Amino acid sequence: MRKNIVAGNWKSNLTVNQAKSLILDINKYEDNLDCEIVVCPPFPYIGFSRRVNDGGYKVGAQNVSKFDFGAYTGEITAEMLKSFAADYCIIGHSERRKYFNESDKDLKDKAERLLRNEIQPIFCCGEVLEDRERQKHFEVVKSQIENALFEFSENQIKQIVIAYEPVWAIGTGKTASPEQAEEMHAFIRNLIKEKYSQSVADEISILYGGSVKPENAKEIFAMENVDGGLIGGASLKADAFLEIAKSF
Ligand code: PGA
Repeated sequence: MRKNIVAGNWKSNLTVNQAKSLILDINKYEDNLDCEIVVCPPFPYIGFSRRVNDGGYKVGAQNVSKFDFGAYTGEITAEMLKSFAADYCIIGHSERRKYFNESDKDLKDKAERLLRNEIQPIFCCGEVLEDRERQKHFEVVKSQIENALFEFSENQIKQIVIAYEPVWAIGTGKTASPEQAEEMHAFIRNLIKEKYSQSVADEISILYGGSVKPENAKEIFAMENVDGGLIGGASLKADAFLEIAKSF
């Protein structure tokens, strides 16, 4: 059965000292949580995030190269992430789609490399406000998922975590209502069921992201098809992040 996950996406924030202090605070978390905690720091901090981690939470990256080793200046490959023992890697965040023009094909290549290196992709999808206003949100999310993920085998797709993040709710303080989140999550699970099978659909964790805070996490996570959250702003404060993780 699928697991509950609360993943923190630090984005491009924090100096090395700030990052170390946040990691130390997160290390104080209680063991008896009903979810898996994943911390996704910027690349340079992955090494020490892993080192002080005594086996409790998991560590992830926020991006990966679509290439293998080679002459691609500035790129971080899936092999490198594996050598840092990264467990997860976020791909297709709307900020990367928007500012770095990541296409569905890029994301398919990235997911393939991660899976080959036994790193679980956290695949982000979601519509912009205009899509929702025009009632195109289901269509947009369907094409993002189909184009990037639906050539994978059953065994591969089962390793992928999906994060539904309506772009209009990211960093805006505007959260999707629990009903809006549930509606889309149920839609995504049904897509997977139709392409693969009910049992595959039942195994995939689908996270919600977009202004999740300690005050609203409980009602969102209570939805049947919401298996946790991808947390941006609130993951930069250990107290808030851990409070969210206690919301199951
Ligand atoms: P937010 O970001 O929680 O700050 O809205 C979520 C995300 O971008 O993953």
